[in-house]
Amino acid sequence: MSTSELTIPDSLAALGLPEETELARLASRFYSATPAGSALTGTADNAPAYYFMEHARPPAGQDISSPQLPAVLPHAPIDVHSVRRDFPILQERVNGRPLVWLDNAATTHKPRAVIERLSHFYAHENSNIHRAAHELAARATDAYEGARDKVRGFLNASSTDEIVFVRGATEAINLVAQSWGRQHIRAGDEIIVSHLEHHANIVPWKHLADEIGAVLKVIPVDDDGQVRLDEYGDLLGPKTRLVAFTQVSNALGTITPVREMAAMAHAAGAKVLVDGAQAVSHMPVDVQALDADWYVFSGHKVFGPTGIGVLYGKQELLDATQPWQGGGNMIEDVTFEHIRYQGAPAKFEAGTGNIADAVGLGAALDYVTALGMPNIAAYEHGLLEYATRQLREIPGLRLIGTAPDKASVLSFVLDGYQTGEVGQALNQEGIAVRTGHHCAQPILRRFGLEATVRPSLAFYNTCAEVDQLASVLQRLRAARPHRTV
Ligand code: ALA
Repeated sequence: MSTSELTIPDSLAALGLPEETELARLASRFYSATPAGSALTGTADNAPAYYFMEHARPPAGQDISSPQLPAVLPHAPIDVHSVRRDFPILQERVNGRPLVWLDNAATTHKPRAVIERLSHFYAHENSNIHRAAHELAARATDAYEGARDKVRGFLNASSTDEIVFVRGATEAINLVAQSWGRQHIRAGDEIIVSHLEHHANIVPWKHLADEIGAVLKVIPVDDDGQVRLDEYGDLLGPKTRLVAFTQVSNALGTITPVREMAAMAHAAGAKVLVDGAQAVSHMPVDVQALDADWYVFSGHKVFGPTGIGVLYGKQELLDATQPWQGGGNMIEDVTFEHIRYQGAPAKFEAGTGNIADAVGLGAALDYVTALGMPNIAAYEHGLLEYATRQLREIPGLRLIGTAPDKASVLSFVLDGYQTGEVGQALNQEGIAVRTGHHCAQPILRRFGLEATVRPSLAFYNTCAEVDQLASVLQRLRAARPHRTV
């Protein structure tokens, strides 16, 4: 899918959100005057007049010298303060400051519903699945298969048989490369990836291509970080077997035109694998509408546990594909001469899987579904616009990745600073971002860089947190106004 399907308004005002100046005016009614870019330091003496400022008041006696009070977007499609109360870790303090988590592209935090679901599983349902004739096995099996059905609904797959549980997006891609890839890709065949890819969607294909004698081709991107469809069209040909690309770039935030790219690949007779690791937490996904042959994601990027992920594959494709790993749980019949496998998805789930975390993932998907993925997308769009404007005002800051279609990533470099220095300075203020190459070295090198600073947003982030980020960056830049690195 593309953002165009979401009917996302292109300004804060269109969302019913205040523009920047209006936000500053609202904030100034409740807080004492503050330097530009750190709107919400101040006093709690002024009584809030708006319901949405209520939660922003510090409890009596609490240190309010640090910029810690979340601003809110009135009339926003989700109530961010209510949402924040669902995430216990957002109450943490780091270096004496309230945690500001802007590393959501690396991993997301877990709502209480997920934490409690895991605990409930181990307290009341824990068993291996599918095998035993006892009550707990039935409960665990129901919970695990129930989670599979939640994933099916979340992706709008047509059947639970199309949903394979794996460790994460990386394992899902390796599974396709080692099963379908080995079966179908021959010497001289071509595999196309985009320049935006995470190493997880490069390395398995490079391994396979090198082993088999296939050719890896790369779709270039423009200076904003969007894929060049014209050049992509030129790469497609009769030797193309597979196009593997991301829906959202983890390093730049670019949203690729998946549907169009998939249609072009299919017209050339190639299969399509979409890496949804960075997409699923930000926008509704409909694998049937995208017409992806495979779609992969990791649970921990969508507010679920680590160590659990999903491979979606079209039924006929999974049915026709040999298993990758062998073991128990995937078997119809074994002799020393012959093996008969179960159908998908069991034939791709050898051994005891990550049962509890699959159940936890189901709870995470229930949570975001209840909030509404279109609401999440709209809220984050407003926040990304706000953050982009804030960062653009910082002298010497260069945003990397400026495609019109972007999800919640703001990669940048700051003149006068190594990226690691910026990360450390932010950490001192309790602000968590990732710095480095983000496991996407080719795309950073496309922009002449080895590393960026990468704040990344989720629906529980606020304008005030963005202001805190901008305030630290303004201060850093002011300390080295003339230096370049
Ligand atoms: N793939 C994760 C990231 O982008 C780890 O940070």
